Amino acid sequence: MQQLVFATNNRHKIEEVLAKIGHQFTILSLDDIGCTDDIEETGTTFAANASIKSHFIYSKYQLSCFGDDSGLEIDALNGEPGVYSARYAGKHGDHEANMDKVLTLLNGQTNRKACFKTVISLVLDGKEHFFEGTVEGTIRNQRSGSQGFGYDPIFQPDGYTITFAEMTMQQKNAISHRARAVEKMVEFLKAGGN
Ligand code: IMP
Repeated sequence: MQQLVFATNNRHKIEEVLAKIGHQFTILSLDDIGCTDDIEETGTTFAANASIKSHFIYSKYQLSCFGDDSGLEIDALNGEPGVYSARYAGKHGDHEANMDKVLTLLNGQTNRKACFKTVISLVLDGKEHFFEGTVEGTIRNQRSGSQGFGYDPIFQPDGYTITFAEMTMQQKNAISHRARAVEKMVEFLKAGGN
């Protein structure tokens, strides 16, 4: 069975990939390969950050590997928070402060359009391949729901009347940016990875 390293220790992301990838591949986390390095996301695009992670692992361990990077892009904020989504209000991973900042900046704004984006960089036998997934939607005026993480309580995907945070994990995983990018990579791998 072919082994692939997923350059993350986020169990939620690993479970999501395992659910889609079937039994054709063994997925290893950074912990599984004994990698304790803090891989810094210094890129200014999702693709650059995803690429930093996959290349770091490939050059250090010579193992086929993929890395991902995601975030929220808001029309009226010229694409912000983008690659700064996790630390938009200053502190990494302070989701409440990040949402407060977005809601304040969009106060009175009628254009509420936004999208979540994920880019995956897969380095397979030394060659890089990119896969992108997006989900379009709007930013609500206030939070709603308690599921999920990050900006989920204020993001309503197009075609729905509820936010990501009001969806079950299965509902969100069926349409999310991450799921779409993963599906594209899985299709590519199942077709032989060429
Ligand atoms: P990551 O690159 O997937 O770790 O995502 C970076 C940041 O983007 C997260 O810390 C969140 O703020 C935001 N983000 C990414 N995906 C989602 C999502 O599915 N829901 C809500 N926020 C997300």
